[in-house]
Amino acid sequence: MAYETILVERRGPVACIRFNRPDKLNAMSTKMKDEILDALATAETDDGVRVVVFTGQGDKAFVAGADINEFKDRTAVEQWDLYQQPFLYDGVDRFSKPIIAMINGYCLGGGCELALACDIRIASDRAQIGQPEINIGIIPGGGGSQRLPRLVGLGKAMQLILTGDRISAVEAHRIGLVDEVVPHDQLESKTLEIANKIAEKSPIAVKLAKQAVKASARMGIEEGLRYEQTLFSLIFTTHDKNEGVRAFLEKRPPRWTGT
Ligand code: COA
Repeated sequence: MAYETILVERRGPVACIRFNRPDKLNAMSTKMKDEILDALATAETDDGVRVVVFTGQGDKAFVAGADINEFKDRTAVEQWDLYQQPFLYDGVDRFSKPIIAMINGYCLGGGCELALACDIRIASDRAQIGQPEINIGIIPGGGGSQRLPRLVGLGKAMQLILTGDRISAVEAHRIGLVDEVVPHDQLESKTLEIANKIAEKSPIAVKLAKQAVKASARMGIEEGLRYEQTLFSLIFTTHDKNEGVRAFLEKRPPRWTGT
């Protein structure tokens, strides 16, 4: 499908979804949110896609926030109605395969919230990250007030959200907001290296491992441990568990089927 605001490229098992409004620093319009959701729905059902990478077109921005132009005349009722439609950040959160945010530049507001909903964040050393909504008299509305404290702790999240400051990729890494910082010219190769490494594993094991780790953000420890035990038991029903264990014992590489 041809999109107006994103580009979708396949690199073997990796689907790269590139936000494509570089003249607007890839500010996320409603159209772009819908197109990302559509591309994710396609990637979800395509067994050839094992990992998704999000990034921004151009050299300056991942996403510099929601498109502020759309806020100008929007009423509270219209905003509420938008929340009743399929919601980008929920779609990213619920996507069953790993999503890596390849943060190539400004990663602000809704862009930061999008990265927060992803599973792994790799940043260019040129990236700047923040939740600047407060500077225009609003607050995060794409999950930032909930996901950011879970990642960096209450105090740091509060500081970022209340000051609206942008921080460097190095500082974001120091506080745990991004998982790795790499020189700008190595961003793509490093991200693809990680994506391809994940793509070589058993797809069903990757899916269940992701589900288990994500549950830790929602569940208390007792419930989470029980959930892990359920998924661990479930994986003993799979072909890939038998194949992986047998391959190890027979000293040969495993042949995954994802079943
Ligand atoms: N929404 C809509 N348009 C945006 C945007 C956003 N979130 N962020 C950038 N743009 C547009 C600018 O309006 C400008 O468009 P124009 O050329 O038609 O005037 C273009 O992108 C380039 O941005 P500009 O501000 O000129 O670039 P800069 O390098 O001087 O500054 C930023 C970069 C990121 C510091 C600045 O664009 C900015 O503060 N953006 C808003 C960030 C934000 O508050 N995000 C959260 C929104 S809730």
